Amino acid sequence: MKFLELGLNEDLLKAIKRSGFEEATPIQAETIPLALAGKDVIGQAQTGTGKTAAFGLPILQNLDKHEKTIQAVIIEPTRELAIQTQEELFRLGRDEHARVQVVYGGADIGRQIRSLKHHVPAILVGTPGRLLDHLKRGTIDLSKTKTVVLDEADEMLDMGFIQDIESILKYVGERKQTLLFSATMPKPILQIGEKFMHDPEVVKIKAKELTADLIDQYFVRAKESEKFDIMCRLIDVQGPDLALVFGRTKRRVDELTRGLQARGYNAAGIHGDLSQARRMSVLKQFRAGKLEILVATDVAARGLDISGVTHVYNYDIPQDPDSYVHRIGRTGRAGQNGISVTFVTPNEISYMQTIEQLTKKKMSPLRPPTDDQALHGQLKQAKSEIEDLMNGDLSKYEDDANELLENYSALDLVAAFLKNLSKDSTDVKVKITPEKPLPYKGDGRHRRGHHGRSGNYGQRRNNNNYRGRRHTDGGHRNRRNYGHDFVIKNKKD
Ligand SMILES: Nc1ncnc2c1ncn2[C@@H]1O[C@H](COP(=O)(O)OP(=O)(O)OP(=O)(O)O)[C@@H](O)[C@H]1O
Ligand SMILES: [Mg+2]
Repeated sequence: MKFLELGLNEDLLKAIKRSGFEEATPIQAETIPLALAGKDVIGQAQTGTGKTAAFGLPILQNLDKHEKTIQAVIIEPTRELAIQTQEELFRLGRDEHARVQVVYGGADIGRQIRSLKHHVPAILVGTPGRLLDHLKRGTIDLSKTKTVVLDEADEMLDMGFIQDIESILKYVGERKQTLLFSATMPKPILQIGEKFMHDPEVVKIKAKELTADLIDQYFVRAKESEKFDIMCRLIDVQGPDLALVFGRTKRRVDELTRGLQARGYNAAGIHGDLSQARRMSVLKQFRAGKLEILVATDVAARGLDISGVTHVYNYDIPQDPDSYVHRIGRTGRAGQNGISVTFVTPNEISYMQTIEQLTKKKMSPLRPPTDDQALHGQLKQAKSEIEDLMNGDLSKYEDDANELLENYSALDLVAAFLKNLSKDSTDVKVKITPEKPLPYKGDGRHRRGHHGRSGNYGQRRNNNNYRGRRHTDGGHRNRRNYGHDFVIKNKKD
């Protein structure tokens, strides 16, 4: 459906055009007119189908420009998602000069208070903990707020957040519009949501599957101790542009990150124990394509919209089937294709079945690549890298090249070059501490709070080979573009 038919004003239509959106997605087509009319709406649609604009556009249109109060508050489960949503609404509301601000934990509250005082935003996006903090301090006033959005609503109404949400809602004036959006909406949670709403319209975009259509979903059966090597080989063979690797615990994320780095991959991790500055800088690098692999806990499972993510690896199968839907939904967004690979240890098969029951889609089995296939994958990348290098001006290397050619055969030189560009990952041993297997539970629905045993990271032996000389060169999306000598749920505040 055309945006033009949805009753949006000229400024917003201009912003939509500028964003490159040609047609409204089904969730936008159905919910925008309802939200514009002031109705309470529960919107469920697959990941990556534009739910942010579905609630953002009507909010922007309904703003009273003369009013100097917070007219809409949008609550997000993670800081990164709050920032992303603020940015998207700011972009869409630019022509209308809409004031959109964000508050989240881990950032200087004094500065937030000064900024809120100086410039009362019309739209405030925030994480529950920090919003509540401001409300208790009296530094924000939601008594005139007309619209409340719970993005990732099922998460916000789940036990980790519900108390905060209830407390926040007590500060909001009576006559309000409530909008709930998510890709997943388990019934019991939906019922909790309805308690806060007035006669809500439920818009559920019917799809054959709960997961986004454009994601090819695979699983690999492997023992815990085999997973890391298999994942590295898969990365070599599949050659992702950008990949997200999900681990179950923070320690797991740290170990995976170090292991991948030790093998020469351009990887960094993100989880709730890192400083906010670090979380933001890692995510920024990943968004810019300067980082090839982002390793994360479920803190990155929901809502993040990063274009170019081609692969999602569930190094640990998620405990919660809804989390699977969100994790793999970081790829296959806005019409792009994606691939997900989920590792399943023998005693986790029931979790996979629970996921498949929820998504109504079977994952396809994937045979782990052999070392030869992995090497072949690397060499393919290395060859394309050489082709790129051949396009550059190489004249200043000719004298040295001739000198080498006098001493070695061209064949040996090229082979050595290929060896350097590719890498035989078996030469760097990485040990990932085994996690306790997931406990079997009939319906597989475990919510947050699981932590594995702690342990040590295994050997890293990369200091005195060629890989150790590589350093990160920003600006290239592909690891193999890093060339030769310059080469390379703690979701709360
Ligand atoms: N009508 C549209 N046409 C094309 N692209 C769109 C349209 N609406 C939104 N997008 C883009 O699609 C991407 C996904 O949008 P968004 O993040 O809102 O998805 P979502 O449904 O909220 O996903 P999730 O469930 O993962 O949070 C964004 O990059 C957004 O700019
Ligand atoms: Mg979203």
